[in-house]
Amino acid sequence: MRVLGIESSCDETGVAIFDSEQGLMADALFSQIDMHALYGGVVPELASRDHIKRLRPLVDQVMAEADCTPADIDAVAFTQGPGLIGALMTGACFARALAYGWNVPALAVNHMEGHLLAPMLAPEKPQFPFVALLVSGGHTQLYSVSGIGQYELLGETLDDAAGEAFDKTAKLLGLPYPGGPHLAKLAEQGDATKFKFPRPMMDRPGVDFSFSGLKTSVRTAANKIENISQQDKADICASFQEAMVDTLTKKCKRALKQVAMKRLVVSGGVSANIALRSRLEQLMQGMRGELYCPPLSYCTDNGAMIALAGWHRMQAGQAPLGLGLQVKPRWPLKDA
Ligand code: KG4
Ligand code: ZN
Repeated sequence: MRVLGIESSCDETGVAIFDSEQGLMADALFSQIDMHALYGGVVPELASRDHIKRLRPLVDQVMAEADCTPADIDAVAFTQGPGLIGALMTGACFARALAYGWNVPALAVNHMEGHLLAPMLAPEKPQFPFVALLVSGGHTQLYSVSGIGQYELLGETLDDAAGEAFDKTAKLLGLPYPGGPHLAKLAEQGDATKFKFPRPMMDRPGVDFSFSGLKTSVRTAANKIENISQQDKADICASFQEAMVDTLTKKCKRALKQVAMKRLVVSGGVSANIALRSRLEQLMQGMRGELYCPPLSYCTDNGAMIALAGWHRMQAGQAPLGLGLQVKPRWPLKDA
């Protein structure tokens, strides 16, 4: 069974072919980062227009790379939501037209389910059940996962997402967009003990998060420094990252205890953060448990995770779509 996957929910156009026997056969990505960097964030209309330009050449590229003809493809999966409505529409229209033309089913995939399953693209794949920490630009959530489509929300952020907090903090320090990776890089040269930033909501029971206060503390600390130096910025980055990693790790520990599990999956863009990965690895070693992460290049948005999720959905008996065209800019994973 071979599925072509299309991702276009935000600022990356991703296309990939996943084969149930051979695994990932081809994968192509176009990142719009350079275009949006000029504006300091994603400009939705520009994102949509660019997806339209990239989709066809990327499909041609993966078909050639995997040495496939349309007759070799069994289904086309695409991101139906959540995401930017215009960007979602481009991928949905393109995928639906392709599936219709090739006479194969079109499968709607939830972007966050794509992230959730992305660790299964690694050689060591997690078995169900597990606890999943989803940390991306728009989401910070903890789920108890017992199978495909069986997602129980344990906790989530009440305000900013982890990636959003990384990006906003980076922006206020004058780092380029997207801030997360730049902040992490600068943090390597900083002293994480220089600033004591809060660990929000640790004193309350449960596994919800809140990151807007952390961001405000960083602003206050940065504003207090006259003529902020590069070393000051590095220290702030390291201290901010430490607060973030500490909070995420402790909430994971709580969630695992709450559902009596020892298997943790972390995915989404922020799971590319090396400090977070190594702290979670330590946590799981201490608990004699297991940690699963996506390969580094599949932490952020990509077509491979959509092709993979589409295949899982097909296996689970998800009905192919009719001809109506619908996207879901808001689509909680628990409803997927
Ligand atoms: O999953 P993703 O590509 O898009 C969404 O679905 O939102 O995640 C993008 C987010 C951005 O906020 C970006 O700054 C963050 O992931 N990110 C990182 C790192 N790499 C990407 N945050 C911290 N450290 C990183 N190394
Ligand atoms: Zn994403």
